[in-house]
Amino acid sequence: MTKHYITFRDLSVDEYDHIFARAKKLKAERLRGQHLRPHLGGRSVALVFAKPSTRTRVSFDCAISELGGNCVLINLADSQISRGEPPSHTARVLSRYVSGLVYRTYQESELRELAASATIPVVNALTNQQHPCQVLADLFTFVENLDGRPLEKQLVAWVGDGHNMANTWIEAAAVFGFGLNLACPEGHDPDPAILKRAQADNPRVRLVRSPAEAVAGAGAVNTDVFASMDQTHERDKRMLDFRGYQVDSALMARAAPGAIFMHCLPAHPGEEVTDEVLESPASVIFDEAENRLHAQKALLEYLIPPL
Ligand code: CP
Ligand code: NVA
Repeated sequence: MTKHYITFRDLSVDEYDHIFARAKKLKAERLRGQHLRPHLGGRSVALVFAKPSTRTRVSFDCAISELGGNCVLINLADSQISRGEPPSHTARVLSRYVSGLVYRTYQESELRELAASATIPVVNALTNQQHPCQVLADLFTFVENLDGRPLEKQLVAWVGDGHNMANTWIEAAAVFGFGLNLACPEGHDPDPAILKRAQADNPRVRLVRSPAEAVAGAGAVNTDVFASMDQTHERDKRMLDFRGYQVDSALMARAAPGAIFMHCLPAHPGEEVTDEVLESPASVIFDEAENRLHAQKALLEYLIPPL
């Protein structure tokens, strides 16, 4: 059966453990200059974008070539998808050319529609609801920093918008069982269904209003922009709504000793986080970005079986 990766819950702890172990090995090999693997054997993977991207686009493109494949980059606006071709037709057509479909769009329902007709794995490259490939790399980064300490015993803080990144961290906490404190301003809470389901699985997922309360004792502090790509029209209102939700050095000082600062990037220095925190020794933002490549190579290897 074709395996898709649309939400973080689509993989189990065992599958994540396998992917993290592979990503670790691929990262070490790449650092030794061993970039190329024959896994894809010349097969192609399509990358489709309905929103801008730097990290996702480049890391997947490099991952596909380093796995011995070919990347077909499609800007959604230039394709027939934007002119109303049914997703079920697009999925069936692309399934005849390529071996995987990595897709960034607005609504998760579009990905589900594609996946229902595709005979190749469909990977979520960000929707308004989720960003699982980012949290995959973020957790890999967090685990690297834990130096063998168990992930499920950790406490993670989320400060800011309860949007796609927060929703995916919630699912990750449900899958792995670590504690997650989310501080979101009123009116910007995470998806209630995702939160409710996660809290049923993991009572250590908590929604609070106070950033100081959320970060107390946390081993990782996470944030994201106040206005995401699908929310730019609300930007002015959001800058007001999110007053008091900036991650600064004083807030980081309330976290556990040695806590790391995480951000999926792109960041808006001086808005959701200060430059001082972004550039501090606690910041692992560029490791997260690098780890997109290693984690996605391991993910593609897992989802697209060898020939
Ligand atoms: N973090 C992330 O997905 O970045 P891009 O929007 O640049 O792909
Ligand atoms: N929440 C951000 C993440 C960007 C990678 C957005 O959707 O724009």
